[in-house]
Amino acid sequence: MTAGRTAGESGSLGTGFEELWKALAPIGRDDRTGGYHRYSWTPAHRECERWFRDEAERRDLTVEADGNGNLVAWWRPDPARVTGGVVTGSHLDSVPDGGGYDGPLGVVSAFAALDAIRSAGAAESAGGTAGGTAGGAAGGAAGGAEATRPLGIAVFAEEEGARFGVPCLGSRLLTGALEPDRARGLRDTAGVPLTDAMERAGVPVDLGPAPDLLHAPSAFVELHVEQGRALADLGAPVGLARDIWPHGRWRFEFGGRADHAGTAAMSDRHDPMLTYAMTALAANKRARLTQARTTFGRVQVEPNATNAVPSLVRAWLDARAADEPSLDALVEEIRRQAGDRAQRDGTRLEVHPESWTPRVEFDVRLRDRLAARLGSPPVLSTQAGHDAGILAAARIPAAMLFVRNPTGVSHAPEEYAEPADCLAGVDALTAVLTDLLAG
Ligand code: GLV
Ligand code: MN
Ligand code: MN
Ligand code: MN
Repeated sequence: MTAGRTAGESGSLGTGFEELWKALAPIGRDDRTGGYHRYSWTPAHRECERWFRDEAERRDLTVEADGNGNLVAWWRPDPARVTGGVVTGSHLDSVPDGGGYDGPLGVVSAFAALDAIRSAGAAESAGGTAGGTAGGAAGGAAGGAEATRPLGIAVFAEEEGARFGVPCLGSRLLTGALEPDRARGLRDTAGVPLTDAMERAGVPVDLGPAPDLLHAPSAFVELHVEQGRALADLGAPVGLARDIWPHGRWRFEFGGRADHAGTAAMSDRHDPMLTYAMTALAANKRARLTQARTTFGRVQVEPNATNAVPSLVRAWLDARAADEPSLDALVEEIRRQAGDRAQRDGTRLEVHPESWTPRVEFDVRLRDRLAARLGSPPVLSTQAGHDAGILAAARIPAAMLFVRNPTGVSHAPEEYAEPADCLAGVDALTAVLTDLLAG
């Protein structure tokens, strides 16, 4: 059982990576489950951001923020040269009881890669042989390549959408993919508006496109734990992303009539829970038939009493498929079956789209360049959403590196990466950043 293990606890890591990881690992961790609760702009998430700012400061990086809650720590932010820099990074928020690697692995690896690039540069200018602190590939790749571009380490806000319902909220606002007015209307489950949550956390608020934050980068590279078993099955520690499946979220509202759980005859009921249950089964069956993915992972019931027939069930469908027509057809079919069932149950159905992300193919030239640098690792499609995908859709050349996850599990405490694979990830990131920084 790997639940709740952290890389720092389970073996030897490069010192830089290990120290970074150990400092971050306890924040927002539930010791009972081993899972993380780092919802955007809550104290745990703020502590993660403080960790980020402290690490940036220790390295003399300049931290810039936009009005959407996104942060970038720049190395060598010479204003004359900052346009066309290289940006890496990921996110520090989590889903409820999420894994420790989804997001943080990309940020910790970014600092470790920067340290390796700097020490390789220092060794070279001292006339020694280039040898990165993170290991072989770093030193090898750094050899002879002189970094000329600035490097930014980004932390994007509310990537999981766990608090406000829209995934990749920060990168969508930054690139203009989400209307600021729509974001202003978002509330968390306690009814707190997004802008209030940000203000209460002391975050500057000015929602909307913020192209200056990334300074028109020449490339963005996000390192991420793999959220499936492909690399484990292939026996490879590191892979590259080809594309992201289109995916979206829909809120299904099933309205019925509240009644007494004992005295209301079964035949007299208008029970929306029944309609919801049949819809969940239909969605599962449809996804299996079409090799797609459907999940109802969040449900609210009113009045939520053991001895009352519900009056309302609100359930969120997360649906993903390999291409957009398949996803449209899948959701349409689930909606049709839910509607038919609502008629039989004497209940009402409303479906509200909440987010939609088209298929994204990562930049082919950039991917080929990374593949050449890394000795052609496996190239994978992914079903998970990422800020790198939002940036790619905004025509920023973007790429992703995946690090093997032996459990294949993600968004849960079992999410894991072996220490040696974390280091292989740092080495790979160091190698590609070294190459990209050189021109
Ligand atoms: C976010 O990680 C998602 O793909 O849901
Ligand atoms: Mn992630
Ligand atoms: Mn995630
Ligand atoms: Mn994600």
